[in-house]
Amino acid sequence: MVKPTRIRKRERRPRIKDADLFKTVEEVFDVFTLQHLERLLSKGIIWELKGVISSGKEARVYWGKDKKGRDLAVKIYLSATAEFRKSIKKYIMGDPRFESIPKHNFRKLIYAWTRKEYRNLVRMKKAGVNVPEPLAFSGNILVMEFLGEEGYRAPLLVEVIEELGEDEVNRLYREVVRQIRLIVCGARLVHADLSEYNIMIWREEPWIIDVSQAVEHSHPLALELLRRDIENITAFFSRYTDQELDLELEEIRRCLQPQ
Ligand SMILES: Nc1ncnc2c1ncn2[C@@H]1O[C@H](COP(=O)(O)OP(=O)(O)OP(=O)(O)O)[C@@H](O)[C@H]1O
Ligand SMILES: [Mg+2]
Repeated sequence: MVKPTRIRKRERRPRIKDADLFKTVEEVFDVFTLQHLERLLSKGIIWELKGVISSGKEARVYWGKDKKGRDLAVKIYLSATAEFRKSIKKYIMGDPRFESIPKHNFRKLIYAWTRKEYRNLVRMKKAGVNVPEPLAFSGNILVMEFLGEEGYRAPLLVEVIEELGEDEVNRLYREVVRQIRLIVCGARLVHADLSEYNIMIWREEPWIIDVSQAVEHSHPLALELLRRDIENITAFFSRYTDQELDLELEEIRRCLQPQ
């Protein structure tokens, strides 16, 4: 394991201040991750890593800064659990963009997964979806726009819904539906893991995150995955409003190309 102090030896080195972060770096990052991190640091894409925003089983998200002091979100995929590998394969296989990935090289699978999230973000952004702007990727590290202020991430939909009045819930619901339509009809993708946990509320709008598993319309499971996304969202919002919810979503289903 390469010690994180290697990062400190670089000229014009980025500062990594948080003692906990050091500990985390040492514990969870393998030599490949450190190499990719160094690459992004030396290119000046990441200038400073400031602290952990979220630490899940498969990925950690860090708050960072670029050279100009702009906030960044840095998502780092960790070495995959067996369950994660299974799901990676499910979403990558059947996607023509990733046909050449060796199925048993776990590191390359994770790299492909990271690239997939980056590319999905690019496509969604182009289609006008509210997603964090993708800035760079290297290996298992994805750098994107930070949703939040001063290192405080924006809240997830699930974290704010109870504080909202019904009019606001209805407005957000309509806006989420519009985002889903842009993903499916504009970016020609299906998010495939859409829920109140993967939508952040920032500047009073819903922002879609966590798009690594999003698939093309041609994916054999696209329709099933779209149905599940729609059901999750409808079921969640219907707990907070009396409004009739699924009419518009029928239309989105029609947008999905027939197999
Ligand atoms: N661009 C961003 N700006 C600010 N915070 C973010 C950003 N992207 C992700 N986060 C935060 O990190 C968390 C995890 O991100 P994400 O959902 O993309 O990863 P995940 O694979 O689902 O990880 P986990 O297993 O921890 O949920 C989010 O719930 C959110 O709090
Ligand atoms: Mg998530």
